[in-house]
Amino acid sequence: MLQANVTDGRLDKLAAPHAPRVPAHRTAPCALTDRSMNHTATRRLFVTTALPYANGNFHIGHIMEYIQADTWVRFQRMLGHEVHFVCADDAHGAPIMIAAEKAGITPQQFVANIAAGRKPYLDGFHIAFDNWHSTDGTENHQLAQDIYRGLKANGLITTKTIEQFFDPEKQMFLPDRFIKGTCPKCGAKDQYGDSCENCGAVYAPTELKDPYSALSGATPVMKSSEHHFFALSDPRCAEFLQEWTHTPGRLQPEVLNKIKEWFAKDADGNGGLGDWDISRDAPYFGIEIPDAPGKYFYVWLDAPIGYLASLKNYFDKGGAKARGELRSYDEFMADPATEQVHFIGKDITYFHTLFWPATLHFSGRKTPNAVFVHGFLTVNNGEKMSKSRGTGLDPLKYLSLGMNPEWLRYYLAAKLNGKNEDIDFNPADFMARVNSDLVGKFINIASRSAGFISKRFGGQLGAMSADGQALWSKLSAEATTIAGHYEARDTARALRDIMLLADAVNAYVDQNKPWELAKQEGQDARLQDVCTTCLQAFRLLTLYLKPVLPALTAQVEGFLQMPALSFADSAQPLPAGHTIAAYQHLMQRVDIKQLDMLFEPPAQAALAVAATEKRSPGGEDIAPTISIDDFAKVDLRIAKIVNCERVEGSTKLLRLTLDVGETDAAGQPTTRNVFSGIASVYAPEQLVGQLTVMVANLAPRKMKFGISEGMVLAASHADEKAQPGIHVLTPWPGATPGMRIH
Ligand code: 2FM
Ligand code: ZN
Repeated sequence: MLQANVTDGRLDKLAAPHAPRVPAHRTAPCALTDRSMNHTATRRLFVTTALPYANGNFHIGHIMEYIQADTWVRFQRMLGHEVHFVCADDAHGAPIMIAAEKAGITPQQFVANIAAGRKPYLDGFHIAFDNWHSTDGTENHQLAQDIYRGLKANGLITTKTIEQFFDPEKQMFLPDRFIKGTCPKCGAKDQYGDSCENCGAVYAPTELKDPYSALSGATPVMKSSEHHFFALSDPRCAEFLQEWTHTPGRLQPEVLNKIKEWFAKDADGNGGLGDWDISRDAPYFGIEIPDAPGKYFYVWLDAPIGYLASLKNYFDKGGAKARGELRSYDEFMADPATEQVHFIGKDITYFHTLFWPATLHFSGRKTPNAVFVHGFLTVNNGEKMSKSRGTGLDPLKYLSLGMNPEWLRYYLAAKLNGKNEDIDFNPADFMARVNSDLVGKFINIASRSAGFISKRFGGQLGAMSADGQALWSKLSAEATTIAGHYEARDTARALRDIMLLADAVNAYVDQNKPWELAKQEGQDARLQDVCTTCLQAFRLLTLYLKPVLPALTAQVEGFLQMPALSFADSAQPLPAGHTIAAYQHLMQRVDIKQLDMLFEPPAQAALAVAATEKRSPGGEDIAPTISIDDFAKVDLRIAKIVNCERVEGSTKLLRLTLDVGETDAAGQPTTRNVFSGIASVYAPEQLVGQLTVMVANLAPRKMKFGISEGMVLAASHADEKAQPGIHVLTPWPGATPGMRIH
């Protein structure tokens, strides 16, 4: 059964039941599959991670999920399988709409700004999605509306009039988290609409005493409106979901147990699946419901459809062709052999294991083959993450401290076991695992043997004698077992097994002492044999670690002068006489100072970084090098601030009127209107009459308060809490409006 392939980790079940369509460049079957699994079928996988809300930067929890999925994807590719790995920003919903309004920009611009910040995280941690899209893309609008029509045609959309709190000032219905008031149980003030942070009580927003809108402060009124529902209480849905969730291999056992509770009805027939409210009233940032003016899909209806939208966008752009898939998106998804796999966190299980498969099934689409659920990541013994207390782990700070991303990949892989369990980032444990295992056991094998091969044997490997071959065969024989652990996402076990093999190699080094052989007369042949064995073993260990350590592996592939490693390569050593390049150190150890800085509260950390090494001037790394042509694209001009005023409705923005020396067709001087987020630092009267620098060829941007026709340059520290302040640039005397800055 195909579904069994995905989760149980047994390689003898990896064969997909369809005829292989192996692209020409991959016709050589995987030796591992040949040897131990007796098949050569190529699986076709569509893999996703949860789509992050586009209302903030990634936190370490996102990065953990992406690393887990990326590792699994890289492993599948090492077996020769075809994988399409996509994600997207989850753009819609009231919180994003409200945040955009506060920032004085459109929700589209708000989401675009967040999306623009994704790359440093993904590149930084070697997370290689094939595509990154947005749930506000045209594909998603179309797919969501099609899916809705499918559900409707199946008789599964109903409508009902419900009463909800409405903000009379903002003229909008209020989501629970935007209603506050006094707890009906303990009387604590300013509690959210769904639960009390003081006494833990859970209640309906209508039970709050003295409710008020968190948006305007107004007292909300009850107002009714018609909502659209997905009729999950329909017996067809329960029947389908029972079958879907219980299909072996689809869900982890601990996840299935939880789901059974959600299905359960009590003796009176209460409980079980209720109808799902999938509509929201305007104003809402979302996708319009067909034939229902003023109604939008609730964000959780269109969010998972974003998986399909991102895949479609990637296929339509030709990305899948580049990976060997020649069919269209529709053909690929219509193929029953295509495996659809989602990696998610435990908090969104309900949406992914009930709503999502039902949405797909009853709109006539393929349902997920597996949903892999992981637990939460806590930091420092489960202390709740808090930036101000310095207990969080900020991914960009980690990178800016010069910490190796593959240390984190290795550490997280060493903790993740494929179960829905929380894991903890513990600094001492992190340092021990990286320094003792990764560097001490693994990297050291190469550093203790490669130099002799280069200096004494012109970089040439020799043959392995019987003891070396025996050691090599022991390592090679573990390929299937290790692959099985990767398949089951039990990377903790895979790495444990790999480190046991590294122990065996280190024992061989200690027994044979190449550094002593090197000093002895007549031991050249043995020295070459021992060092060759070490490097052949090192190559195998690298192969096994490749899904977790892609960048390190690329370095090793360069140093050993061999093509990219796949699992099939575990069957054969490099031939005697193969030449390697000179060894260069592959990985540093973790320095405890880096960990200290990582967990220092922001202000101290900024100072500490400045005091030790100037890696991140102004709190951020210097951007990648650009050419003079790149720079020439930016047209910087001297501008005179001829007027400046506050913007009503915004505490952040000032409206600047700038003279850049331009005139209209009639030769009359013209000015530009530019909004700048500097109201917290400058009073308008300080700026009027001053010269400054502006980007004069930036595409005009539509903002809530008008169009901004450029950008004024200002300096600030990346960590605004550590070093507050924004400093507008002024030219030296002599510059006049319109002069270009070269
Ligand atoms: O919980 C979240 O962060 C959601 N944005 C996840 C959506 S996953 C998928 F359905 F899009
Ligand atoms: Zn309370």
